[in-house]
Amino acid sequence: MTQTADLELDKEITRRRTFAIISHPDAGKTTLTERILRVGGAIQLAGSVRAKGERRRTRSDWMTIERDRGISVVSSMMTFEYRGCVFNLLDTPGHEDFSEDTYRTLTAVDSAVMVIDAAKGIEDRTRKLFEICRLRDIPIVTFINKMDREAQDPFALLDEIADSLALDTTPATWPVGRASTFIGVYNLFQEMLTLNNVTTLTKEDNRLVQMEEELELAKMALPPFDRASFDAGHLTPVFFGSAMKEIGVTELLDALVAFGPSPRALETETRIVQAHEPAMTALVFKIQANMDPHHRDRIAFARICSGKLSRGMKLKQTRTGKTFTVHTPQFFFAQDRHLAEEAFAGDVVGIPNHGTLRIGDTLTEGEDICFVGVPHFAPEILRRVRLDDAMKAKKLRQALVELAEEGIVQLFHPQDGSSPIVGVVGSLQLDVLQVRLQTEYGVTIGFDSTPFSLARWITGPREKIEAFTLANRSAIADDLVGDPVFLTTSSFMMKRTEEQNPDVHFHDIKQIGTTIV
Ligand code: G4P
Repeated sequence: MTQTADLELDKEITRRRTFAIISHPDAGKTTLTERILRVGGAIQLAGSVRAKGERRRTRSDWMTIERDRGISVVSSMMTFEYRGCVFNLLDTPGHEDFSEDTYRTLTAVDSAVMVIDAAKGIEDRTRKLFEICRLRDIPIVTFINKMDREAQDPFALLDEIADSLALDTTPATWPVGRASTFIGVYNLFQEMLTLNNVTTLTKEDNRLVQMEEELELAKMALPPFDRASFDAGHLTPVFFGSAMKEIGVTELLDALVAFGPSPRALETETRIVQAHEPAMTALVFKIQANMDPHHRDRIAFARICSGKLSRGMKLKQTRTGKTFTVHTPQFFFAQDRHLAEEAFAGDVVGIPNHGTLRIGDTLTEGEDICFVGVPHFAPEILRRVRLDDAMKAKKLRQALVELAEEGIVQLFHPQDGSSPIVGVVGSLQLDVLQVRLQTEYGVTIGFDSTPFSLARWITGPREKIEAFTLANRSAIADDLVGDPVFLTTSSFMMKRTEEQNPDVHFHDIKQIGTTIV
């Protein structure tokens, strides 16, 4: 590669900002997404993300089940350019039943914006999503939303974040006024006051006086912004604002431009891959089938981890050793898509395929490496699939495999040959499975209960596993890639089994791409 090309690559990668927004439902994620896109110039009118009159439904929601229930099930991508940076905003499903999908999406981002309702503070789902981010030390930027309404005291909110998440905070903006008199923010980074629809304000205005006094206190009590601490996920800059009134949103985006972060180094089983390495590597973190009802298609979403992807490039799928040419990589903007001629580390591209690509796959220009970090969680609900029309058995088998590869459910084939068992984290996943089997494959199914309520992947010395499997035949199943799973009825039974089989290891998380040996 020439030096100019090297510089070009560096520049492109450095200006990427790939992030997700995490929040408890109703904290204002959809509204903030709209406003970010608007400030970023990606959409003309705020409100077009959410179709008129249909609440809590962004343009990225496309499935009937989502429309019917007004929830966001599917995660999508949005890309826009703002002040010289390319922003990739990865949307995560709103519903907690899809936490596994959310987790996978979070493996593909370099930072997260945590939205908190100023009246409610840290809520249950915020905490859970934050914990997921912490597992990977993802840098977090906090946006305290709805300051235009009755809110908790800013100091109390900062304390709550620090105490309940064990995360240091530093104010990035400070509110001017409260609730109905909330008129803007003071930006600590730019040392600038931004007021909304206010032309004149005297220095004596008590909102300004209060802001100045509080700011003094905050500066004394809290640490200043520290880049290394932020990058390590230990310190969060906190922005106060109102997504609805578009106060504090520009400040948030400007900060992401200033300290991003740009694409991070990622771990493989054998070495760390730096984003600026010239050779292209990518990680498939999501599969989505039948996005376009007019064309039956299957898109693998890959995060470019290093280098540059060009259309027509030959890629190696390291799991199988096979190579293929990417003829039509695509960029997505909610429902719209277009061909990606080139994409850089940090970008997410959709690669159409017919089932060859799986979640967790690593794609390279030839090197044999495998990225780690995309997990499967042990399901919490297990159901046997009941098929009324026996003629459709073959079709059902194929459909279940396809949908399991997409991550809609986990699929287990009992070793005793009985009908397949599906495992999910949340029951809504079962509804999605049922609806999609019906609408996309024309197969009607029902669910029967099973005696099982827990599933654990098993590893250990070969002879111990064989003996255990033989002794528990009716409770052993193979997962999608043939790894053995032990199914049991309760945590009490699980504990007993563990005590009785000290040489067998039981796992509730499996890293995809890694075959447990
Ligand atoms: P979510 O995606 O996190 O679930 O939240 P969403 O943006 O849908 O916002 C939830 C509700 O909070 C919406 O009201 C929205 O208008 C409101 N909201 C969001 N940001 C702000 C803000 O900064 N200030 C105030 N006062 N309200 C805000 P809704 O009544 O449920 O829906 P709608 O009728 O307004 O669409």
